[in-house]
Amino acid sequence: MPAPVRTSRRRTYLLCPPDHFVVEYSINPWMDTSAPVDTGLAGKQWSVLRDALVELGHEVHLLEPVPGLPDMVFAANGAFSVGGVVYGASFKYPQRAAEAAAHEAFYRTTPGWRYVPATEINEGEGDFAYLPGTGLALAGYGFRTHTTAHAQAQEALGCPVVSLRLTDPRFYHLDTALAPLDDHNVAYYPQAFSPGSRRVLAALFPDAVRADTADAYAFGLNLVSDGRHVLLPAEAAGMVDKLERAGYLPVPVDLGELKKAGGAVKCCVAELRR
Ligand code: ARG
Repeated sequence: MPAPVRTSRRRTYLLCPPDHFVVEYSINPWMDTSAPVDTGLAGKQWSVLRDALVELGHEVHLLEPVPGLPDMVFAANGAFSVGGVVYGASFKYPQRAAEAAAHEAFYRTTPGWRYVPATEINEGEGDFAYLPGTGLALAGYGFRTHTTAHAQAQEALGCPVVSLRLTDPRFYHLDTALAPLDDHNVAYYPQAFSPGSRRVLAALFPDAVRADTADAYAFGLNLVSDGRHVLLPAEAAGMVDKLERAGYLPVPVDLGELKKAGGAVKCCVAELRR
C-alpha cells in the first residue's frame, strides 16, 4: 500500500540562540564537561535550523539568551501550551531553574496567553507532547518531570494526559524517545519505555514509526514535524529512511555541537499552540 499523503500546517515556534552555550555541568549522560564545545559552531548550526523553519513558512519567535544559562538554547523545556493556555516549567536541577522565568516573561508580555505557573517539577515540552487529532497530551516521567505535574497539567490545560514511564537514562526526556509526526501519529523508540507504557503506546498508535537503537542514539526521535516536513538530526540516517517510507518529507539538520549537551532539533524548538 502506498504511504498516505501528509499535509503540513503552519506553526508558531519559540527558539533561543545558543550565544552562551557551553557544557559546564552534567545533568544527563550525554554531557561530558571535559569535551570541548565550539559555541560559534553551535550558533551556526542553530541558525540553519531557525532558517529552515522560517523557509517552511512557520512563524519563529526568539527569546533573549541569558548569560550563565548555557542550556537556554533548549527552548522546548520552558513551558507547554495548548489552546492559548501555558503550563509553566519548574526545572528539576538548580542549574536550569532560572530559565522558567525567562519563558514566563515571554508569555506574560505577549498578548493572547494565559500563563499557569507550576508548583510541580516539570520540564515543559521536554516531557509533554500534544496530539490535536486525539485531544491527548502525552507526558513522560522517570527522570525529570514528576507525575504530580502530569495531573497539574491536565487541570490547567483541560486535556487528558497519558503518563508514560521512561526507563533508560540516555532518554531522560520524553522528546528524546517520542515525537508527534502529525495530529494523530507519532514516532517512538519502544525500548526507552517501561513494558506497560509500551503497551499503551502500541494501543494508541498502531501506525507509529518505530525507531531502533541506532535511530534513538542518533537523536532521531528528537524531531520537529509540521505534519509533512520533519526536521531531524542529519546523523539519524535510518530515521530519514523510515520517515520517507511513511510518506513524510525529512529535512536533515546538523546540530552536532548541541548533542554534547544531550539535545537536538526538538529540544531547541517550543511550539506555541493557541
Ligand atoms: N542539557 C539539557 C538538560 O539536560 C538538555 C535539554 C534537552 N532538551 C530537551 N527538550 N530534551 O536539561
